[in-house]
Amino acid sequence: MGVGKNESIVEEIKSRCNIVDVIGRNVVLKKAGSNYKGVCPFHNEKTPSFVVSETKQIFTCFGCGATGDVIEFIKRYYSLDFQEAIEKLAGEYGIEVKRSTRPGDGKRDLYYEINRQAANFFYRAFTTQANPGYAYMKRRGMDPATLQKFGIGYADGGWDTLYRYFMKLGVDVKLLLELGLVSESKGKYFDKFRNRVMFPIVNTRGKVIGFGGRAIGDGTPKYLNSPESEVFLKKNNLYGLNLTRQDINKENCAILVEGYMDVISLYKSGVKNVSASLGTALTENQAALLKRYTENIVLSYDADAAGQAAALRGLDILRAAGCRVKVLHVTDGKDPDEFVKKNGKEAFLALTKQAKPFADYKIDILRRKFDLESTEGRIAFLQEAARVLRELSPVEADVYVGQIARETGISEGAIRREVGGFREEPEKKREVPARAGEPEEPKQKHDRRVLNLEMNLIRLMLFKSSYIPRIRSIENAFSDESCRRIYDGILGLYDEDSEIDLDRLRDGLEDEENSMLAYIMENIQLADVDEAVFADCAARIRDRARKKREKEILQILSLADENVESEVIEALTRELMDIQREMKR
Ligand code: UTP
Ligand code: MN
Repeated sequence: MGVGKNESIVEEIKSRCNIVDVIGRNVVLKKAGSNYKGVCPFHNEKTPSFVVSETKQIFTCFGCGATGDVIEFIKRYYSLDFQEAIEKLAGEYGIEVKRSTRPGDGKRDLYYEINRQAANFFYRAFTTQANPGYAYMKRRGMDPATLQKFGIGYADGGWDTLYRYFMKLGVDVKLLLELGLVSESKGKYFDKFRNRVMFPIVNTRGKVIGFGGRAIGDGTPKYLNSPESEVFLKKNNLYGLNLTRQDINKENCAILVEGYMDVISLYKSGVKNVSASLGTALTENQAALLKRYTENIVLSYDADAAGQAAALRGLDILRAAGCRVKVLHVTDGKDPDEFVKKNGKEAFLALTKQAKPFADYKIDILRRKFDLESTEGRIAFLQEAARVLRELSPVEADVYVGQIARETGISEGAIRREVGGFREEPEKKREVPARAGEPEEPKQKHDRRVLNLEMNLIRLMLFKSSYIPRIRSIENAFSDESCRRIYDGILGLYDEDSEIDLDRLRDGLEDEENSMLAYIMENIQLADVDEAVFADCAARIRDRARKKREKEILQILSLADENVESEVIEALTRELMDIQREMKR
């Protein structure tokens, strides 16, 4: 783009469009000293704090801080982007905007012009005489004002009415083919849209970029859409946004629906902050486009399975774009169109008030997906719910943890660990590395808590050999290396003779173990609490083993996908539930 050109157009607009005149058309301005004052259009106020300076050609609101030049005002007031604001002002003040700076612009304008002509052609056919299209839309409860607002038209049932119309105008058939208005077969040209209600698709700059054509009645396809072309990229546009973005901006909320008819029907009922993707899954670009007008989105897709799947995908895309998203499925009828026709605006608005925040929505779906009566189902549910909660801040996630704990019987701690699992990963890597040249601190060889526990067990075995078989029956009782060697020595001697000869035990041990053994012997003061100490140690070791196994199973299950045999998952799940039940006791 020729920067110089653009700069000069901006300069020309600024010099020709007096900010006082421009703003004065929308805001009542009163002279106040050398400036003008009015009630700010960008926030609610009673006493005017909105000041316009004619000499500086800027506006400032001392209430909300909005400020800028004439282009900025138009951008904000009409929710336009920079280029659109320039075009609007230029159009109104008769300033020529040369758009030939972009290669291919001339051709684009031609495409737009042809589409505009086609839209007019369909509109005339729809409005000037009785036709099946108009009858159909009336039957669906549409009123003339709404139909006109959306530029609804009718493509008649003839084979080449539109083609002949354009031929008379001298339009190159190649362009009609490129726009998908006309098709060719065996050297003959015929209209692409026949006997259909036509929905012109208009971008936010007011250009007709394509069409959706609905069959009248049960014909297929139900909707025929313009093919993608140089001016029609579905992924970059949303239906109805040209008409609704100011309402979206004003309400600071957009209701995103699936169908053309949903948009029109809601609009007619008075719910105007609405838009729809163009018969495809919502795209990143569409999310970014919406976000120019609001961050708050209510997804109101159809009530069927397809609508639910589309809502789930849309949710993620909108969240990735930084939007706050809620979801609602109408409770009566298959889509917002049917619902609002039957129940009216207020009922629909009430539904939007109850729309579910994304986490509630996703968890709700999981709840229905899994059988919470079965252990397997509960675990699988928890696994997937944890994935949802991981997208939330810890504080937000916590709200759901208690709820999930109650319905699954899985402890809050376990759920938190499951949710935390992934999030904590990167933090663990933040260990302070040993500084170069400094000797690395010797790794703590023994964990003190483990050591105390295991030394107590050795103490017990040496105190009364009757503890030896009891401790032996505890699986994995010893994890500390030294303790384990002492333990092995004790078992070896015990198997020979039920009484332990301490000298023989010492002989079989290395220095390190011997000093540990000496320490244990010195402190062997069990008196008559030995049974209590044993019970406590045994319980703690079992607990330790359960936690370890729980972690292991959760890890396995979190990696499991459809490829793993369900028996394996089922067995693990059952084990996990048993473990968790035991731990609760
Ligand atoms: P729906 O079938 O839900 O459309 O498809 P709708 O708007 O409710 O239609 P009515 O009320 O039956 O007339 C949702 C959207 O998916 C696209 C269209 O954009 C439609 O609005 N679609 C659907 C197609 O592009 N082609 C089709 O054949 C069907
Ligand atoms: Mn629908």
